[in-house]
Amino acid sequence: MSEVIWGLATSHVPSIGAAMDRGMTADPVWSPLFEGYAPAREWLARNKPDVAILVYNDHANGVDMDIVPTFALGTAERYRVADEGFGRRPVPDVEGDPDFSFHLLRHLMDDGFDLTVFQELDVDHGFTVPLSVWTPEPGGAWPCPVVPIVVNVIQYPQPTAARCYALGQALGRAIAAYEGAGTVGILGTGGMSHQLAGARAGFINPEFDHMFLDAIEEDPGKLAALTREDFIREAGAEGIELIMWLVMRGAMNERVRRVHRAYHVPASNTAAGLALFDNRPGPSA
Ligand code: DHB
Ligand code: FE
Repeated sequence: MSEVIWGLATSHVPSIGAAMDRGMTADPVWSPLFEGYAPAREWLARNKPDVAILVYNDHANGVDMDIVPTFALGTAERYRVADEGFGRRPVPDVEGDPDFSFHLLRHLMDDGFDLTVFQELDVDHGFTVPLSVWTPEPGGAWPCPVVPIVVNVIQYPQPTAARCYALGQALGRAIAAYEGAGTVGILGTGGMSHQLAGARAGFINPEFDHMFLDAIEEDPGKLAALTREDFIREAGAEGIELIMWLVMRGAMNERVRRVHRAYHVPASNTAAGLALFDNRPGPSA
């Protein structure tokens, strides 16, 4: 039996990683964002899981746009940091956990989710920025092995929010049935409201984002009922990345304890949010 001990939801804006890599986190433009992360990072440093699952989307960096799986899972021993055109970020490659990956794959398939398999995968900012939000100074390695779950949020038709939530619930059952790990952390990434191109480029909707931050904690079913058109209208074309937070939330208990939450506008042209939940009943670290 393995247990999800925490869930971390965070934006993955590439400039957040660039600000860290270039030592700019104390600059006035960046310090409010990074100060907002501090309590979550301190708690996470005290609550290291044996293994983590990171739900993210590739941005046509590690995966060719000709073949876009709706849901996929990595089974590799290592995942290289992708070169997105400016060289690889100076952060460690990611150690995987093939045994855990194969367990999840089998269990999810038997539970009605036929995931595509990546035996090899370069991970882009969608993956490495959340790792940096969690662990700003990883040294030679990230805190634990990480299994990627990849969601299509970039090519129409994206999966529904309801299907993402149901995938998370199946993931929760699969994790609970795993004998090989003890504690698991799960990250749901992307968002918050943003639109990078077109007539509404720069669109940010703090009212929607705050509603989402409330509901992801207390009423995820309400978010699972949103259509992809709702997301795009209310959160911008790329704001639909938020469906990935529902995979994380589905894997957690109905009631969770919020450890920390932060919201900052803007990081580049994007609203950046973070929410950290403890999944263990009763008082903890
Ligand atoms: C940007 C890219 C992203 O993938 C994202 O989710 C938010 C912002 C950007 O290029 O600024
Ligand atoms: Fe993105």
